[in-house]
Amino acid sequence: MITKIIGTGSCAGSRRVTNQELEQLVETSDEWIHSRTGISTRYLAQEEGSCAMAAEAAKKACAQAGVSPKELDLILLATSTPENCFPSEACQVQGRIGADHAVAFDISAACSGFIFALHTVHSFLVSGTYRTALVIGVDELSKAVDWSDRRTCVLFGDGAGACVVRAEKEGRFCSTIGSDGSRGDILTCQARSGGNFLTGKRPELGFIAMDGQEVFKFAVKKVPACIEEMLEKEGEKKENIRFYLLHQANERIIETVAKRLGEPVEKFPMNIGQYGNTSAASIPILFDELNQEGKLKRGDKLVLAGFGAGLTWGSILLEW
Ligand code: COA
Repeated sequence: MITKIIGTGSCAGSRRVTNQELEQLVETSDEWIHSRTGISTRYLAQEEGSCAMAAEAAKKACAQAGVSPKELDLILLATSTPENCFPSEACQVQGRIGADHAVAFDISAACSGFIFALHTVHSFLVSGTYRTALVIGVDELSKAVDWSDRRTCVLFGDGAGACVVRAEKEGRFCSTIGSDGSRGDILTCQARSGGNFLTGKRPELGFIAMDGQEVFKFAVKKVPACIEEMLEKEGEKKENIRFYLLHQANERIIETVAKRLGEPVEKFPMNIGQYGNTSAASIPILFDELNQEGKLKRGDKLVLAGFGAGLTWGSILLEW
């Protein structure tokens, strides 16, 4: 069996925030942010939170696929910013959309989360364990950002993207994922830190901390290598790829990856200018936009690729 995406949906945070607005918050400028990253605006969640965004994206994906939530066997949700330690975000989405027959759980792979989730779901579908699944990438990094740190606060936005996938007889799907825990310190966000009655410390939440240049170097080296390796293994030529849907972290990273792959940048759709970096949500939001705009034709070969904290990375080749 082969994994086929049969519907997409997305939802961004409810409040659009411009670079000019951030100029009032930290010492920065629209010119600096835009020239270094390509970002002009981002959407931040307010009261709605990540569960509501994920549920909205999920409902849209089910509607587009023509699949009732009751037909879902599995919900796999990728996030680094769940609303609760437990219940999982996936279980909360399950409750909100009435997917009574599914099993639901979260996975964590930061900005590579959606790729890791789709890769994992594929294993369940090809083994015949499940037939229809919902894959969600959602993050609300605005609650993990130090809004007085100009090096990071200008980069991120909140949102959710979802795909309904089904095990089909025909199609194309292959994927590869990787991680390197020894370099994890270049991009971190501490969760509840140590504290119990023995330490006498009160658990605290940390903020995102990043060595931007190291992350940049990692991304522009690892992403093209990972894609090249996958395509070579699959015997697929780059000229047959219609679009490369890359994690939207920085326009310059995407342009550099295109150059290193020797592919025209027009094959790399981008929406970072509007959304900022929405972490695990960025690839499925981009996918949904292309789908809604009618830019995807059945049979198109697409490459998805992500990278992020962990360090983690991965790529997928699929036929739409
Ligand atoms: N506004 C204005 N100035 C800023 C700024 C901001 N928002 N953020 C940093 N600066 C300053 C720095 O303090 C530094 O000043 P200094 O030279 O006086 O010390 C200067 O700009 C250059 O900083 P630097 O970090 O070298 O910039 P850069 O060209 O590497 O761009 C990033 C910074 C973060 C945009 C870039 O490194 C990047 O995109 N890295 C990848 C990050 C990423 O994708 N993370 C998510 C991965 S999933």
